[in-house]
Amino acid sequence: MITNKKTANGFAYIEIENKSASARIALQGGHLFHYQQQGEKPLLWLSQKSHFESGKAIRGGIPICWPWFGKNLTHKDLPQHGFARISPFELLESNEPDEHTSVVVLQLQSSEKTLLLWPFQFQLFLRITVGSTLKVALTTRNCDSQSFTVSSALHTYFAVSDISRVSVQGLNKVRYWDALTDQIKRQQGDVLIGEEVDRVYQKTTESLLLRDAVREVHIRPEGSSSAVIWNPWKEKTRRMADMQEDAYKTMLCIETANALEDARNVLAGEEHSLQVTLA
Ligand code: BG6
Repeated sequence: MITNKKTANGFAYIEIENKSASARIALQGGHLFHYQQQGEKPLLWLSQKSHFESGKAIRGGIPICWPWFGKNLTHKDLPQHGFARISPFELLESNEPDEHTSVVVLQLQSSEKTLLLWPFQFQLFLRITVGSTLKVALTTRNCDSQSFTVSSALHTYFAVSDISRVSVQGLNKVRYWDALTDQIKRQQGDVLIGEEVDRVYQKTTESLLLRDAVREVHIRPEGSSSAVIWNPWKEKTRRMADMQEDAYKTMLCIETANALEDARNVLAGEEHSLQVTLA
């Protein structure tokens, strides 16, 4: 069943409930903030202090970073991670092909407001398939007369039982940009988190495996050859108004991205899709 709902403060979202899973998607940002397989714990982390108000990104779930990832390189005062995650999407389509699968397609398109932030005509489609796996596909269509470049990320916050017992497999020997030291490094073995981590792995198209003490999650990217791993650890979490002090212990962001040299040039009239399947 797919239902339109609102939080107590009037924040609109879509609720999905089928035989395999449940999910919630805010219309602002097309932001999936809950996904849970029947009989399992929620897969995605959501901050207990998150804002559910217009113009502020939800802290948790899967924010859509688009049309730029991180800081805007030419205009530093533009919103970090682009404007999609704080823009109102509209529901284009919803259907349930069987009792285990629900599909919604949301859309954001260029408007006077977006043209002031980013001077291109576009349509952005977000197709979310909720079932025994979760699939998120973000398709950029260039409706302009000139090509444009987008960097982006499906900024997935995974819920973990204990960050000190988590590993990420699939990045051995992969080169990354360490945002904390501004250095290029190379991964040795699995990624373990024992301090603040903020890295953009490059030239990687492999599936990743998140191993937690209580479960394993397969992360299968498509249309992506970069991955971001982020955990703010103690100090940074303390400085963040929308995270509880010890929240870093139960979350890890593994982001399916088109970041840095993996930014994509989309020709006029053409499309690019960035996708992830979580199983
Ligand atoms: C990550 C970045 O993707 O997102 C980090 O690599 C950043 O540098 C983090 O701190 C959270 O960003 P924000 O804008 O949601 O606070």
